[in-house]
Amino acid sequence: MIQLVRGFKDILPPETSVWQYIENTAKTHFENFGFREMRPPVLEQAALFQRSIGEHTDIVEKEMYTFAGSRDTLLTLRPEATASVVRAYIQHKLYAADPVAKFYTIGPMFRKERPQKGRYRQFQQINAEVFGVDAPYLDAQLIFMLMTFFARLSVSGLQVHLNSLGCPQCRPAFKESLSHMLSAQSDKLCADCLRRLEKNPLRVLDCKVPGCRKVVAEAPSMLDYLCRSCQVHFDAVKSALEGMAVPYEIDPWLVRGLDYYTRTAFEIQTAELGAQNAVAGGGRYDNLVEMLGGPSQPAIGFAVGLDRLADLVMAKFPPAEPGPEVFFLPMGEAAMEMTAHWASLLADAGVRTEVDFSGRSLKALMRRADRMGAQNVLMIGDQEIADRAVVLRNMKTRDQVQVPLDALVENVKAHLEKPNVA
Ligand code: HAM
Repeated sequence: MIQLVRGFKDILPPETSVWQYIENTAKTHFENFGFREMRPPVLEQAALFQRSIGEHTDIVEKEMYTFAGSRDTLLTLRPEATASVVRAYIQHKLYAADPVAKFYTIGPMFRKERPQKGRYRQFQQINAEVFGVDAPYLDAQLIFMLMTFFARLSVSGLQVHLNSLGCPQCRPAFKESLSHMLSAQSDKLCADCLRRLEKNPLRVLDCKVPGCRKVVAEAPSMLDYLCRSCQVHFDAVKSALEGMAVPYEIDPWLVRGLDYYTRTAFEIQTAELGAQNAVAGGGRYDNLVEMLGGPSQPAIGFAVGLDRLADLVMAKFPPAEPGPEVFFLPMGEAAMEMTAHWASLLADAGVRTEVDFSGRSLKALMRRADRMGAQNVLMIGDQEIADRAVVLRNMKTRDQVQVPLDALVENVKAHLEKPNVA
């Protein structure tokens, strides 16, 4: 038998109901904050990610699904959505009428990471991206939007980790001092970090190897190197968060795994997911639009990891699907043919409907209806057809009513709408 590819997963019912609930909640919530949905493709030119995420990041160095397209272009299954949203913003000149634009996207991302619980090679994200606003109040508002989204889903126990990564004016001095310090301890770094030290020392701060973590604990903090305007920005983000009563922790080691960030960087973490503790992450990327050939426009955004969020929601509320409101139990060929027609009309009229065409005994059908959580069953046999009336039975109260066959849909609907009818 051909099996699933390692690192990929099927999301099956009833779990899908949890995903739908999360996605619908996100849509309503984000739209209340002025976001509109964008649906970029999952395939882009590899160069888009190489230039935006950064050549010397784990994602670009070893995690992208890249293959040859036509005419020597390399194509990549997107490892994240931000680069695609920026490309679309530039390509379709979405800034022309008004540079301020807010988009959200929902969909799969692909990273060839080592699979483990909470880490997959295809995973889902909800992204939110804002262009054209450099005010720090927006940074705080986005974090507020994210935390109230989690609250709407009744997910608690989350911490906001906050840092500033400075800007091209102040970051070089930090990088230099970090390189200096790391070089002095290079004998304690892993082979990957020795390479990172050469190409992109900030990435050493991300390394999970215990030896490297020990070295990093002594590293300088970007927060001590912020230039005046980055400091003012960061202070305003913190004070706006306090004003909105959003608790946060300053995390000077939070550098995020992508190179495009400037100033505010944040992650939402939980102690409930084991090693893969980040449920969402994001930050400012004020230079990316221009770097990818667009106008100079500041930007900020975040992505929520839906797989991890669904795990948190399900740990609290196991998925529960409502059973059919009406389960048709036809007895005999004539009843089956009529039922196919009526059950379809009833479903089309907005009632959750199920039919059993197996032809098994009434007892077997009742057992199945019970197992599926049917609220009512509707029994039809030759006698009911002759009488032009069917029996509708409430599975909980066991109450039975006769419903005329003529205008069945209206009659059943009217009965279901009566108070005390489950
Ligand atoms: P990221 O931190 O790489 O950021 O991913 C965001 C979230 O996606 C993570 O916090 C995690 O919940 C989830 N995630 C990442 N990798 C995996 C995986 N292999 N399996 C399951 N879940 C995963 C970004 O992608 C940025 N584009 C976020 C952003 C948007 N920054 C600005 N705008």
